[in-house]
Amino acid sequence: MANITFSSPVMAKDVTVYAVAGDRGTILAVAKAHKIPIPFDCQDGECGSCLVQVEHFNPKAKSAVALTEKEKEVLRQLGKISKDEIANAEVNDIPPRYRLACQCFVRNEDIMVRFEGDKTQP
Ligand code: FES
Repeated sequence: MANITFSSPVMAKDVTVYAVAGDRGTILAVAKAHKIPIPFDCQDGECGSCLVQVEHFNPKAKSAVALTEKEKEVLRQLGKISKDEIANAEVNDIPPRYRLACQCFVRNEDIMVRFEGDKTQP
């Protein structure tokens, strides 16, 4: 069970959705199901369009941070993750600030997901 709050300058107000326990969806899948306009393209962790900032409401709730090589590489290319953040994620289970929504699976915790969005779209 997890409440996911989406926040973006392209949305009139923040939207909180409830992701069901056991739902192995990604943040992007949950967003799409609720018509949250996170930009995306490849949906395969390669293009970086779905970059989001993820805030964990309970930073002490440690669970393994699953960063794939692909996601790390794209975040690095975008300048959104440092070597220290990668090490912290892998060694200490400290989640990095930025994730790719199509690669980040929803877990049993409440999070805030912020994204810029495409301001040219209504
Ligand atoms: Fe391309 Fe997520 S949609 S990296």
